[in-house]
Amino acid sequence: MEEQYKKIFTEKDESEVGEKHVPVVELVGDAIKVNVGKVEHPSESGHFIQWIEILDGDISLARVYLTPFMKPEAAFTVKENPENLKVRIFCNLHGTFQYG
Ligand SMILES: [Fe+2]
Repeated sequence: MEEQYKKIFTEKDESEVGEKHVPVVELVGDAIKVNVGKVEHPSESGHFIQWIEILDGDISLARVYLTPFMKPEAAFTVKENPENLKVRIFCNLHGTFQYG
């Protein structure tokens, strides 16, 4: 297991940090839309979301890498919705947060 997965915060984290990091997931047709945080996470050179990943259980389906020039969001088109959808994001300062 990767080092960065050792500490994973979930949607139960209602702290100020959680508000800006826990993925907000929306299913729209055959797309899984992900925004990072109820309150949009910053995208600055020293603090940004490095990746957004969707999983079915513990199996990674796709991961999108971002830079400080990108908004902290992504959309994934799937053939069928995963049975056990999880979404993970990684912030370069605050670590990994998970939906599901
Ligand atoms: Fe952060």
